Amino acid sequence: MILGLETSCDETAAAVITDDGEILTNVVSSQADLHAKYGGVVPEVASRRHLELVTPVLREALEEAGVGLERIERIAVTQGPGLIGALLVGLSAAKALAWARRLPLAPVNHLHGHVASLYLEPDPVDPPFLCLLASGGHTLLLDVQDHGGFTILGTTLDDAAGEAFDKGARLLGLGYPGGAAIDRLAREGDPEAYEFPIARVPGLDFSFSGLKTALLYTVRELDAVELERRKADLAASYQRAIITALVERAEQAKTDRIAVVGGVAANSELRAALPDAALAPLELCTDNAAMIASAGRYVEAIPFARYLALDAYASTAA
Ligand code: KG4
Ligand code: ZN
Repeated sequence: MILGLETSCDETAAAVITDDGEILTNVVSSQADLHAKYGGVVPEVASRRHLELVTPVLREALEEAGVGLERIERIAVTQGPGLIGALLVGLSAAKALAWARRLPLAPVNHLHGHVASLYLEPDPVDPPFLCLLASGGHTLLLDVQDHGGFTILGTTLDDAAGEAFDKGARLLGLGYPGGAAIDRLAREGDPEAYEFPIARVPGLDFSFSGLKTALLYTVRELDAVELERRKADLAASYQRAIITALVERAEQAKTDRIAVVGGVAANSELRAALPDAALAPLELCTDNAAMIASAGRYVEAIPFARYLALDAYASTAA
């Protein structure tokens, strides 16, 4: 049994899975409401909230799984990348638990966690495959050859796809986080009403900042009444531009096995546009600890006590 813990952004999450990848519990406490009034995640507010939630969330996960701490054999925790203060709360809690029970600790890269959301029961997807990882913090095209890691083939040059969704939602007054709100509203709109730019940068990279600026200029031209009237069309057209950029890249990579993970993988238009892709299960797209526990099966765990000096990292950039 593996206990996973995830606190890299604004979700406090704990999960228990078996070594075979069966999920016993997957508890996610989202702080989205807390950050909504600021229009985005406030790092210091997130850290403090993680501190309040981490113990109850851990307790709930263990209770729901019906296993005591004595049955846990390994603890997996997100080490980075993410908000450093937020990460430190989870890492410290994981260290304390592991130390108290003399357990090994598996430090997990959050991105590896997203990929490992595919390795869980009941329908695990095994490498090799090409993976599109689209979240609030990242947009990556990954070459995944084995369960233990990945190679980055392409990345965003500016905003992440989820960030583009969130910034677009903010411009349309849809609140935070905006991906799901745009997804919903887009169903009532015409995706061809507006022509937003799709950046085609060289190689396998992505770019979304021009798109966001285009929406800003379009919204500026509309008065309040007109904006309200065209909102669904704007959402649908904007979403179409993001999804087209993602799908084009996935198709350009020319592989018969493409997998899609991360928060944006929950998008209904993206899911429909890639019917042959291996899509992460909906409940495992956005941040959760089951995916961290899953990745924790494939990284080398640090033996008891040696992890006490382990540090979190905010970014993977050298
Ligand atoms: O993976 P995730 O939970 O956190 C990061 O690691 O960043 O992804 C969160 C992102 C947010 O930007 C959110 O707006 C986006 O995923 N998202 C969606 C949808 N659901 C969540 N974007 C588009 N359509 C959705 N249905
Ligand atoms: Zn994530």
